[in-house]
Amino acid sequence: MISSMHVNPFQQAISVHWQTGAMEGREVKESRKLLGDLKGIFLDEAACASADANTVVYRVKWWQPSEPGSEGGLFWGVTAIESGKVGDECFMTHGHFHANSTRAEYYTTAQGEGRLLLMDRERKTWAEVMSPGSLHYIDGRYAHRVVNAGSVPLIFWACWPSDAGYDYGTIAKEGFGARILEQNGEVLVIPQTEISIKN
Ligand code: F6R
Ligand code: MN
Repeated sequence: MISSMHVNPFQQAISVHWQTGAMEGREVKESRKLLGDLKGIFLDEAACASADANTVVYRVKWWQPSEPGSEGGLFWGVTAIESGKVGDECFMTHGHFHANSTRAEYYTTAQGEGRLLLMDRERKTWAEVMSPGSLHYIDGRYAHRVVNAGSVPLIFWACWPSDAGYDYGTIAKEGFGARILEQNGEVLVIPQTEISIKN
């Protein structure tokens, strides 16, 4: 017989379904980002302004079994980005640096096709292809943003340290060094410098 001493209170508290990105449990937190929350993030501001501001771009569910900011803990979450575009630009997350640049993160894709944009502090930007089963190690020094480049919701799981924190301000102000556009069925990684010249 197992005594109550050996029962882990976290066990069975949360359940996940890998493929669909479902995550259930009393302590699961949830947030969603609408187009109206992402003003200034997409290149085509006119297209963004004329679209319905209440359009859901992505949803995040996560579990934080330890205090945010506390050392040694791990958080677990899932993000589902809808398929859609603003002008030619694919729906994407806001993107952030971790406030603590020594704190890395894992992403792994459950469903859909996309790109993980990574950027260092010198604004050097590159992309990794996301598809079901792809695993991505994100060095704590790199900003990260996920772009849905496919026709179904892009769903990925994430695990990150409880004291990673978020720096959204740098991305809100300066963006990434490249954008992901879809033109004539082709997914393009366009350096921001080329976009500036074009405009
Ligand atoms: C946590 C993390 C993810 C993102 C989520 C939404 O460090 O990287 O859980 O927070 O994918 O993206 P953002 O936070 O950029 O809106
Ligand atoms: Mn992160």
